[in-house]
Amino acid sequence: MNLSVIICIMTTLLGPTLGKVIMCYFGSWATHRPGKGNFQVSDIEPSLCTHYIYAFVGVTAEGSIHLKNKRDHLPTHGEKNDIEKFAALKKRNGAVRGLVSIGGWAGTDGFYLVVNNATLRAKLVKNAVAFLEKYHLDGFDVNWDYQGQTGGVDLDKNFVELVKELKEAFVKKEFLLTAAFGTLKHHGTRVYDIPALIGNLDYLIVMSYNLTTASSSNVVEHHAPMFPASNQKPNATLMQNNVKACVDFWLKSGAPASKLVLGLPLYGKTFTLADASKTTPGSPSAGPGRAGPYTREAGSLGYNEIYEKQLSGKWTTVWDDKRKVPYAYSGDQWIGFDNRRSLAVKINYAKKHGLAGIMIWNIDTDDFRGTCGHGRYPLLNASRAALNSTAVIQEEIQEDVQDSNTP
Ligand SMILES: *[C@@H]1O[C@H](CO)[C@@H](O)[C@H](O)[C@H]1NC(C)=O
Ligand SMILES: *[C@@H]1O[C@H](CO)[C@@H](O)[C@H](O)[C@H]1NC(C)=O
Ligand SMILES: *[C@@H]1O[C@H](CO)[C@@H](O)[C@H](O)[C@H]1NC(C)=O
Ligand SMILES: *[C@@H]1O[C@H](CO)[C@@H](O)[C@H](O)[C@H]1NC(C)=O
Ligand SMILES: *[C@@H]1O[C@H](CO)[C@@H](O)[C@H](O)[C@H]1NC(C)=O
Repeated sequence: MNLSVIICIMTTLLGPTLGKVIMCYFGSWATHRPGKGNFQVSDIEPSLCTHYIYAFVGVTAEGSIHLKNKRDHLPTHGEKNDIEKFAALKKRNGAVRGLVSIGGWAGTDGFYLVVNNATLRAKLVKNAVAFLEKYHLDGFDVNWDYQGQTGGVDLDKNFVELVKELKEAFVKKEFLLTAAFGTLKHHGTRVYDIPALIGNLDYLIVMSYNLTTASSSNVVEHHAPMFPASNQKPNATLMQNNVKACVDFWLKSGAPASKLVLGLPLYGKTFTLADASKTTPGSPSAGPGRAGPYTREAGSLGYNEIYEKQLSGKWTTVWDDKRKVPYAYSGDQWIGFDNRRSLAVKINYAKKHGLAGIMIWNIDTDDFRGTCGHGRYPLLNASRAALNSTAVIQEEIQEDVQDSNTP
């Protein structure tokens, strides 16, 4: 075999992104958004991500998989429901993997009841396999937001058990099993048998965002800064509420980098400033920012909404060079968000530490229509390019020097 043949095979196997994964969540509720924010399964571009994850399906108290979104139940007058349309993405790109995510917040369904009961867990495992077979999907993602809360330590132990049982059933079918975790700094090592957990997962997705929000903080702060600001005291909560700390937590806990996937937010978290003249991070907050026209949720805005606001010209955008993320303000409204530059910094960090790749939450808040003049999906596309690029970003090198000097 000559060199060009080998290179050709390598390129085919590794794809355009050097063998890294790009896992993209589709929030099925985006199909109900109004106007230009309305996002249908047909808006998904199947060539941009390696894995697409449908969020969320529920779990009933009997251990069945439950379709939460109204559109998942659409009539069958020849029309496919959204799960079927989602699964059909693979027809447009055979290399793509389609997963569904179960879980979400405590109290939304019977998930935690099922996790705590071995009989029901066995039912859930059986139903999960049947669900994937029925829809020709490739795997399950478990979104575990309970973490030592609702059901305490036992619940988390039983969760590790569920992951093991799912894995045993999935291995035979070659289904993928992933799980997404938020910040575990306060109880991660205490409640989880981390090696057992990780051993049974194909990928562990780090939800490195929503770290500081208007409901958790009385000062404005970016929800997903790459680094802490250097004036923050070590061990202080803010010191830990950054992407570096999230990744480092899992690496130090023994997670192999090759299974870790870095979560990137395509939205911002917003605040209402208590004093419109005080706009730097750490300034007093009067609560969440006003809801946007599409996502309609106080305290956050999709990137598509942020971009439209910035185009209105009334916003001031600042690059925070300590945290390596941008923020923007106008009047009493303040947004901490990510743009192509901050995403490139985070992706650089992921590459430097040999992570498996990146996760996008979520594709439906990118500028998927391309109305802002940078093509369709500008953030996702730029993230792909950054993941693929061999260039080293100068900014991060500087920050590492500064970081190692931090007491
Ligand atoms: C577990 O669930 C089964 C089936 O619903 C039920 O019969 C059993 O009592 C439950 N076990 C516990 C310990 O709750
Ligand atoms: C700060 O964190 C370090 C490392 O985790 C730990 O060794 C030290 O005891 C902590 N200090 C305080 C004051 O909590
Ligand atoms: C983070 O915030 C976004 C935007 O509000 C929301 O869609 C998502 O569910 C949140 N995720 C977690 C894990 O808090
Ligand atoms: C995506 O990024 C590539 C560079 O990696 C660029 O050539 C291409 O035009 C972009 N696509 C769109 C739709 O903007
Ligand atoms: C990835 O990098 C290769 C080599 O530098 C380039 O040919 C290819 O277009 C890049 N792909 C993307 C998606 O940027």
